[in-house]
Amino acid sequence: MTTDNCILVIFGASGDLTKRKLIPAMFDLKLGDQLPEKYLILGVGRSSYNDESFREKMSVEIDDNEKSADFLNHVFYQQVDTSSVDDYKNLDARLRELDGQYAVGGNYIFYLATPPRLYSVIPAYLSHYGLNKEDDGWRRLIVEKPFGVDLESARTLNREILSYFNENQLYRIDHYLGKETVQNILVTRFGNGIFEPLWNRNFIDHVEITAAESIGVEKRGGYYDSSGALRDMVQNHLLQLTGLVAMEPPASFESNAIRNETLKVFQSLKPFDKENLDKHYIKGQYISSRIRGETVPGYREEEGVNPESRTETYAAIKFFIDNWRWGGVPFYIRSGKRLPTRVSEIVIHFKATPHRLFKKAYGTMDNFNKLVIRIQPDEGLLMKFGMKMPGAGFEVKEANMSFRYSELSSEQLSSAYERLLLDCIHGDSTLYARGDAVEACWEFIQPLIDQESSEHPPKIYGYPAGSWGPENADDMIEGEDIHWRYPCKNLTNDGSFCEL
Ligand code: BG6
Repeated sequence: MTTDNCILVIFGASGDLTKRKLIPAMFDLKLGDQLPEKYLILGVGRSSYNDESFREKMSVEIDDNEKSADFLNHVFYQQVDTSSVDDYKNLDARLRELDGQYAVGGNYIFYLATPPRLYSVIPAYLSHYGLNKEDDGWRRLIVEKPFGVDLESARTLNREILSYFNENQLYRIDHYLGKETVQNILVTRFGNGIFEPLWNRNFIDHVEITAAESIGVEKRGGYYDSSGALRDMVQNHLLQLTGLVAMEPPASFESNAIRNETLKVFQSLKPFDKENLDKHYIKGQYISSRIRGETVPGYREEEGVNPESRTETYAAIKFFIDNWRWGGVPFYIRSGKRLPTRVSEIVIHFKATPHRLFKKAYGTMDNFNKLVIRIQPDEGLLMKFGMKMPGAGFEVKEANMSFRYSELSSEQLSSAYERLLLDCIHGDSTLYARGDAVEACWEFIQPLIDQESSEHPPKIYGYPAGSWGPENADDMIEGEDIHWRYPCKNLTNDGSFCEL
């Protein structure tokens, strides 16, 4: 792995993402001594900053005074009207000047943290000045989400960007793939001999994936109202998790070997039965309620949201993967805002024993075996199994065996953006979404999007802010004694009563 000298050019540099995520991630990489010897960051945007005022704006987010001053000396700003091709002349000139002055050597990463309408414009204008050409250094392009708003727009965007940059120069961000715990799915499955033999339709009853947030739409009502949970979380983050949970073992740890396998999962997703969508897709929207003594507004009362909005702040889908490993195993996925707590996790529900001895004799529940892969918070793994209650008879109760990342005293989990930026500097695209995978995911959910404008749009159910979403989502789950897990922020707890 080489860590070449490079310049990170951030488009949309005056935006929130730059300040909150990108600059702190680069700073942490610097503190961890992971950046190349020569690195520069060039913020680009319409706002009128100069190097000094931009550094000042960025300094608020990084607090180590001594080292941050040195780091900020590597940060620059260039005002550019990103939608005007002529203005890129100034960018080109500034890049050459900085590159020459600091002898960086011509390697550039262009990070698109702009409004999505500029995602195809910027690559075109960069190419106008030859900034996509790799003759005198590598050129990489990172594209933030959302990558399209439906299948057609994603295809168009892929086509447009690919006419200026090659796929191997392209890095489509899905920040969930940058999370340490998400990468650990690969190690759990393929670095241990005990799970993989059971990881199939013979032993797994169903798979549940949850990404719950306790916050509402906050200041993003304008964006969110034209997006909704299905586009905002399911099409990208949750399907990417599905890809890692369901993929076949890759032949090697090479980027395309892994991405080929996740793509096959997306291509095997069983298309939704258009006649029965209501059994496979539940939409919800939070309504005003009191949470811990405070009244919180309903979604339709949020700033920037249409008061008659039908946008879902909660989405639950049930689907199948049509292949030999997974045929007949239901996957349940849900994501929502204003749920009781912030938690993302995957639960592998193993089948009950073939002969249910203890259930027969004692009437107790006996489908205990679950593997919980906790993505956040209280990151870790939890295995649930049945144990005999001490005393007479054979009453069986659920017991936990867990590993928590917090137990690793020496290791701190790095942020997703840190990992992803470093991978891009290394030229490793394993944890970035490939174009064909993004399109396959859009293709899968497209019928749910289309239904909205059909004669029979799906029902949208209200749920009180702070609850686990519409009750109807429970009806989707098939089988005896089976329901969603109601996780708490603490990995090992679940149910209705949790630590707040
Ligand atoms: C983003 C969505 O992609 O992911 C947000 O646009 C959401 O709406 C966020 O809040 C959740 O990310 P995380 O890392 O906090 O789970």
